[in-house]
Amino acid sequence: MESVFSQTLRTFFLLISLLLFSSLTSLANAETQYHEFVVQQTQIKRLCETHNSITVNGQFPGPTLEVNNGDTLVVHVVNKARYNVTIHWHGVRQMLTAWADGPEFITQCPIRPGGSYTYRFTISGQEGTLWWHAHSSWVRATVYGAIIIHPKLGDSYPFPKPKRESVIALGEWWDANPIDVIREAMRTGASPNVSDAYTINGQPGDLYKCSSQDTVKIPVDSGEINMLRVINSALNQQLFVTVANHKLTVVGADASYVKPFTTKVLMLGPGQTTDVLIKADQPIGRYYIAARAYASAQGAPFDNTTTTAILEYKTATSNPIMPPLPAYNDTATATAFTTSFRNLEKALVPTEIDHNLVITAGLGINQCPPNTRARNCQGPNGTRFTASMNNVSFVLPSNFSILQAHQQGIPGVFTTDFPAKPPVTFDYTGNVSQSLWQPIQGTKVYKLEYGSRVQIVLQGTQIFTAENHPIHLHGYDFYVVAEGFGNFNPKTDTAKFNLEDPPLRNTVSLPVKGWAVIRFVADNPGTWIMHCHLDVHIGWGLATVFLVEDGVGPLQKLEKPPTDLPVC
Ligand code: C2O
Repeated sequence: MESVFSQTLRTFFLLISLLLFSSLTSLANAETQYHEFVVQQTQIKRLCETHNSITVNGQFPGPTLEVNNGDTLVVHVVNKARYNVTIHWHGVRQMLTAWADGPEFITQCPIRPGGSYTYRFTISGQEGTLWWHAHSSWVRATVYGAIIIHPKLGDSYPFPKPKRESVIALGEWWDANPIDVIREAMRTGASPNVSDAYTINGQPGDLYKCSSQDTVKIPVDSGEINMLRVINSALNQQLFVTVANHKLTVVGADASYVKPFTTKVLMLGPGQTTDVLIKADQPIGRYYIAARAYASAQGAPFDNTTTTAILEYKTATSNPIMPPLPAYNDTATATAFTTSFRNLEKALVPTEIDHNLVITAGLGINQCPPNTRARNCQGPNGTRFTASMNNVSFVLPSNFSILQAHQQGIPGVFTTDFPAKPPVTFDYTGNVSQSLWQPIQGTKVYKLEYGSRVQIVLQGTQIFTAENHPIHLHGYDFYVVAEGFGNFNPKTDTAKFNLEDPPLRNTVSLPVKGWAVIRFVADNPGTWIMHCHLDVHIGWGLATVFLVEDGVGPLQKLEKPPTDLPVC
C-alpha cells in the first residue's frame, strides 16, 4: 500500500500540473481583437425626422464588442465627425492602462476632428456586461455600444447557460442636436431641455410617432431561458424596466455576478448594467419590454415617455401586452431593487481602512454677479445651476490631461487639495441654508498611495432639490457596503455594513436624500474620475478625481503614454 506521504505528494503534483495546465491553456485561449471605430456624421431618422447625428461606423447604437474574460482589445478610433471625441470603456478596470480609459482632459486630450487614437487594454477578472461610450460633451447620446464579456473559454456561467442572449441598451433621444442642447444650457445656466424619447437599442418603439415599424423584437421560444443584458446608456435619467407577465432573475450587474434574485421591475441609473434571466413560461404571445423614468427630484422637469421593445414568442402575431410600470417617483420600488444585490461569493472587502472619506454630492446655485446678462442667468430666480462634491465644483483642465500633467510633472493643471470631508458640516438632507448653496470652482484631486484601502461615504445633499445620483468611479469596481436615507450617522449606520457579500459595482445609485458607503483598494495607478453619470451634472461640476500613485513593484506602475496619445 502507498504511504500517506507519497499519496499526498502525488495529489500535490497532480494539483500543480493541473494548475499549470489550466493557466497555460487560459493564456493560450486569450485572444487579441482588433477593431476600427470610425466616428462619423450619419443621417438617422427618428420620430419622423432625419438628423445629422454622430455614430461609430454608421451604426446606432454602435458595434457590440463580444469578448472572453482575459482577452485584449485594440480599438483604433478615427474621428471623422465635426466634434471632439474620446471613447471610454465604462467599467473596464484598465489595470495599468489608464491611458486607455478615455475621459477627456482626465486621461487624454480629445481626439480632434481628423485625428485618431488607438486604445489598448485587457479585460481581466470581469464577466458580464459593460459598455463603451463617448466621454466628451454630450456626444455619447448617439456614440455608445455594448461590451459582452463571456467567461474564459472552457469556463461556464454560474447559472444554466441561456439559450439566447440579447442586449437591451436603453438610450435617450433628442429631436435636436444633443451638443446644441447642452451648449444652450451652459449658456443660459438653466437645466437643459429634456429628451423627446427613450430608446431600446436605438429605437423608441410603438408608443412614439413614426416608430412602430422599427420597434425592436426580442425573439424567444416557449420554455427557453434567455438572458437580457440591460444597459442604461441614457444621458440623464434613471429608468425602470419591466417585461409584461414575466419574472426577471437578476444574475449579474456591472460585470460581476450576484446571488440570483427574482423581481418584476429593474431600476438602472445611467452607467449601470444588469444581467437577467427570463423564462419564456407564458402563453405564446407578444409582450412589451418597457422602460420609463424613475424621476426622484421633486418638481424638476423630465421626459415622461415610455420606450418599448417586444418579447416575441415564435409564431405569435397578437397585439403586445403592456406591463404596468412603477410611478415616476416610486422610490420604494427603486430601493427594494437596489438593496437586493448580494455578491455571488464571499467578498474580499477591505476591513482596515487607510482613507476614510466623506464626500457630499448634489446641486448648487450660483448667484449671478451684477451686470451679468439676464439671458445668461436663467436658472431658478435669475441664477445659474451648478453642482459639486464636497463643495468643489469640478472644472476640467483644457491644455493638458490630468494624467499627463501628473506623469510629466506639469504644474498649474490641478491641485491636490480635494477635501477628505465636507468643509462645513450641515444637515445635508434637511433644509439647507442658502448661504451654503454656492460651491467654489477648482480642479482638485485627492491623492491615494498605491494599495491604500479606501472607504467613501457618499452623502446626497438637498440644495435646491435632492435627487438620486448614479455615482460612477473609473478604473475600479467597489463594494457597496450599505445605503440609506437621511444623513449618514457613523454611530448607528456602521452596524448595517455588509462586509460578507456586498455587490461589486462601478456605479452606485446614491439614494435621493440619502447616502451610500463604498470600499475599494487603490491598486490601479492613474487619475480616475468619479462623477455623477447624469451628464447634465458632470457639466455642472459633480465630479472629482483620485490620483493613485505608482507602487514600488514592477506590476504596480503606469506605463509611459502611447506615442499616438492626442495632445491638446
Ligand atoms: Cu460611463 Cu465617466 O463614464
